[in-house]
Amino acid sequence: MSAAAATRRLRLGVVGLGRLGKRHAENLAYRVPGAELVAACSPLEEERAWARDTLPSPRLYDDYAQLLDDKDVDAVWLVTPSSLHAQQIVDALRAGKHVFCEKPLSLDLAECERVLQEAARYPHLQATIGFMRRFDPSYKDAFDKIEAGKIGRPFLVRSQTADKNDTDGFFVRFAATSGGIFLDCTVHDIDVARWLLGKPRAKRVFAAGAVALHEGLREFGDVDNGVAICEFEDGKLAMFYASRTQAHGNDTHSEVIGTAGALAIGHNPRANRVEIYDAAGIRNECTPSFFDRFEEAFLQEARAFVASVQGGAGSTVQAGATLADALEATRIGNALRQSLQSGQAVTL
Ligand SMILES: NC(=O)c1ccc[n+]([C@@H]2O[C@H](COP(=O)([O-])OP(=O)(O)OC[C@H]3O[C@@H](n4cnc5c(N)ncnc54)[C@H](O)[C@@H]3O)[C@@H](O)[C@H]2O)c1
Repeated sequence: MSAAAATRRLRLGVVGLGRLGKRHAENLAYRVPGAELVAACSPLEEERAWARDTLPSPRLYDDYAQLLDDKDVDAVWLVTPSSLHAQQIVDALRAGKHVFCEKPLSLDLAECERVLQEAARYPHLQATIGFMRRFDPSYKDAFDKIEAGKIGRPFLVRSQTADKNDTDGFFVRFAATSGGIFLDCTVHDIDVARWLLGKPRAKRVFAAGAVALHEGLREFGDVDNGVAICEFEDGKLAMFYASRTQAHGNDTHSEVIGTAGALAIGHNPRANRVEIYDAAGIRNECTPSFFDRFEEAFLQEARAFVASVQGGAGSTVQAGATLADALEATRIGNALRQSLQSGQAVTL
């Protein structure tokens, strides 16, 4: 790559400007060195109006195919419904664009495999899936300590994704297409466990769940609280908990246990460093939502992707989840759902 090409800003198009897409768009527009947000796409006029008002005059499209035709877009940033990811990644690669796509790659394993096969035809293009926990400073610090051998050989991860109860129950409305609690939430813990344990393949899983508050989930075979055990081929283990009904806030944390020590990541989901001392005792407030907890991770994830693409083929900057990692996360998430519904352990 020439020096001029290496220093040119990466021209990005964001696709999907919903709950999370707006956050990504603002990061890409204002907080990522080397990035230029030149285009945005949403089928909804109100979301394009938001982009007109908020972003630095990107070209706006209501149709993804038109954005892909835009020769001045180098990379697309997909924050669209999960059911669209696989085909949109394939279309982006065929159009010659690098791709970042939010998790999960797909809810369907055959679709995941199709994306991997297609991506293999475009080795000069980068494609990564947004498992942003890898970029959270505390998770990254734990990863580095494990790499440095500080806890000996890691063999067990306990990890949870627990959201504050949303009385509106948006996830009940999305239940038909979200894939259920394990593919929507635990998929992050699955990726974290594999990342911290050296990328093992799963061998057998067992899952169970309860509907604590949101009865509407039953007709979709889904639950608002789920637990699971995953055995890996190399003898390592993971235990997962997912919840949509916490009273105190978003309480996402993990623990990794090794032969010479253990690391706990984010056990107290502190909103800040203030402690309240009163007649009820001593306490701190909690991060209300996943975005408050992982705001820094989303930003670092975007910076790493841009740096990686600018580093060119063979760049080692990127630490994000590969398509193969995302496929394995879907494979395990699907098996957990199957176990929940059958009441049986599932051998993969
Ligand atoms: N990493 C995380 O922790 C995390 C958190 C939340 C959501 N997500 C993922 O992000 C994705 C989006 O989630 P969300 O909560 O923002 O959903 P959302 O429904 O709020 O937003 C979806 C967006 O996609 C747009 N859209 C729909 N069809 C489209 C099409 N054909 N072409 C272009 N745009 C289209 C919609 O207009 C909307 O802007 C999902 O895949 C979800 O799994 C990840």
